[in-house]
Amino acid sequence: MTEEPDDALSSADHYYSAHPRSASDRGRLRFLYRGEILSFTVDRGVFAARELDPGTDLLIQSLEVGRSDRVLDLGCGWGAVGVAAAKAAPDGRVVMVDVNRRAARLARENLAQNRLTNAEVRVGSMFEAVPGERFDVIATNPPYRIGRPQILALLRQAPNALTETGRLWIVGKRSQGILHYQRTLAEEFPGTVEVVARGSGYRVLRASRTPRPDARAR
Ligand SMILES: C[S@@+](CC[C@H](N)C(=O)[O-])C[C@H]1O[C@@H](n2cnc3c(N)ncnc32)[C@H](O)[C@@H]1O
Repeated sequence: MTEEPDDALSSADHYYSAHPRSASDRGRLRFLYRGEILSFTVDRGVFAARELDPGTDLLIQSLEVGRSDRVLDLGCGWGAVGVAAAKAAPDGRVVMVDVNRRAARLARENLAQNRLTNAEVRVGSMFEAVPGERFDVIATNPPYRIGRPQILALLRQAPNALTETGRLWIVGKRSQGILHYQRTLAEEFPGTVEVVARGSGYRVLRASRTPRPDARAR
């Protein structure tokens, strides 16, 4: 996630504003996922307004999603993770959540643009948007800037939103506190937290509710 000020935002905006005030200035981008080109509309006032974030890229390329998995994309932005997950789970269902209404609108458009009907976008705050629901996969490049207590709450609530064999995937870098969050995850998901990818200063962590037979915790 970019920590420097984002010039695609007006000074009054955060990328996590519910109603961004930055003037709309839409763009297009594409990336390759599992041999297919996915195409997206992006906009100012939304995280990664002009290009795919390198942390998100690493998360998407390492994320394992089964054909019929139920997936939760927490903080979906314009939809990179959720759209890719919906491609990977044609017989499953993806729920994408964001507080930023402009992001949610783009994510809906991007599902349609990629002809995906097995996903939905909800405007809401984290797990409040999915009360009582359980997922096989939760994937997130979380909004680190909202503050450590909120990110810790996310990590602590995650086990309750996972199926017995569910997995949480999270990407972050050292300056965003990922090493600290890795320790918290180790408390919430004993013996199952793994670093599954590293690159450009980011690491992708996977935490499983049930230890995988082939897993060795690090
Ligand atoms: C780092 S961005 C990631 C966006 C997108 N998943 C990506 O990787 O490009 C985090 C996202 O979380 C959203 N967000 C911030 N606070 C939130 C909350 N309380 N509940 C849900 N989403 C939130 C922001 O609006 C932003 O879109």
